[in-house]
Amino acid sequence: MQETGLSARRSPAATDTGEGFFDDAATDESKTRKQSTLAARAARQCARIGPAGQCAAVSLFLVIIVASLASRSRDIVCVGSDPLYRTTGLFSSPADGVGSDFGSQSACLGRSKHGKTVEWTSKDLLKGLEEFVPIYETRPIKNNMYGMGFDHSFGLWFITRWLKPDLMIESGAFKGHSTWVLRQAMPDKPIISLSPRHPEKYLKKGPAYVDGNCTYYAGKDFMDFGSMDWASVMKRHGIKDPSRVIIFFDDHQNELKRLKQALKAGFHNLVFEDNYDTGTGDHYSLRQICDQFYIRGGGHSCFGDSDEARIRAKRKKFWEKAVDIEELCGKDGEAWWGVRGHTRDDFNHSNKAISYAEHFQNSRFVESVLDVYWELPPVAGPSLTHQTRYDPARASEPILEDGRYGLFQRLGLTRLEASVFNGYTQMVYVQISPPK
Ligand SMILES: C[S@@+](CC[C@H](N)C(=O)[O-])C[C@H]1O[C@@H](n2cnc3c(N)ncnc32)[C@H](O)[C@@H]1O
Repeated sequence: MQETGLSARRSPAATDTGEGFFDDAATDESKTRKQSTLAARAARQCARIGPAGQCAAVSLFLVIIVASLASRSRDIVCVGSDPLYRTTGLFSSPADGVGSDFGSQSACLGRSKHGKTVEWTSKDLLKGLEEFVPIYETRPIKNNMYGMGFDHSFGLWFITRWLKPDLMIESGAFKGHSTWVLRQAMPDKPIISLSPRHPEKYLKKGPAYVDGNCTYYAGKDFMDFGSMDWASVMKRHGIKDPSRVIIFFDDHQNELKRLKQALKAGFHNLVFEDNYDTGTGDHYSLRQICDQFYIRGGGHSCFGDSDEARIRAKRKKFWEKAVDIEELCGKDGEAWWGVRGHTRDDFNHSNKAISYAEHFQNSRFVESVLDVYWELPPVAGPSLTHQTRYDPARASEPILEDGRYGLFQRLGLTRLEASVFNGYTQMVYVQISPPK
């Protein structure tokens, strides 16, 4: 079971300015791993203690360790000396009233009804990665800009293969990449795909994927997930147990709306691809809903001279999707929840203001139906993937931490273009059931 994570995603203008910067990463993995762990631990300690002066002892310890091994790896130096790569404690500022784990807001984790977690472990994820990289390399759509990149493709494949559903439903197909991923996970099971434009339309312009064992509600047959008669569809597919179905949402709709629709239809297993961080994205997400003062690391301060404002301003310079305090709260604003106090829906074609009380109630409702909440961690740290988009301080520990270049290479991840790692937005798997 991994920790939860955070952040933002895909822009057509995504760049990889980190190219070449970390090319000398050490190959002696056991050493780099150890150093980076020590360095990260010391760095976290610093963040917890606060003022720089008080960190002198920790820094000295860090310098001795790093200096003794320095010539071996630039990754370590980055982790130790550049706080921008730290993944926890970065926004820590108890004095400011910001949660002590602001940088790793645990979102809905731990708010499930029975405290249930997923069965898989980090080891399972690593094994899965080893298997998935060669599969991903055979994908028919090599350039899936505006669609899923590597991290989420892996997450969807892994979760689906683990759950082994009898039926897979996707909402939002685009050119069909996610349909292809579902097919790789379950070669013989039926898929239902809902999307306004049929993926076959894209075939005229270039690569697309149309599946032979998929029922498409697309083009002139398009149906929105919320308008489907799911009881009849289940009957037609001989599905008696709705827990044997997985629903994959990548349609940029308000996730609370989708959650309620799925609950009404009796479904249990849902994956939301774009689980946007507070202040970002084009639809209200579970991550936004669970960003609450009463949740560890949740809630925000809109004061322009707060520690949070200062740290956000700094990180914004480095990570394309990081938001500063003005973007979070609006100019002279106080409404930080959702996106500046609004719930966005349908690719932000609809945008409704909500009060904090409503936002709070939404969180209470989500908690009352949640059995499991699991955010996919990023596949690897930014010094390995060269991603420049999401802020690692707003994400959980990656499956492969910075410094594990040897393993990153052995898994075949160096063969992939850096651009495929630029689309991480905290994909989330949730299990739901009606409130008691
Ligand atoms: C980000 S793309 C999906 C990417 C795709 N899953 C992939 O992996 O490449 C979003 C898709 O949602 C579709 N969409 C828009 N409104 C929708 C709705 N109400 N229901 C289902 N799909 C919708 C869009 O037409 C678009 O194809």
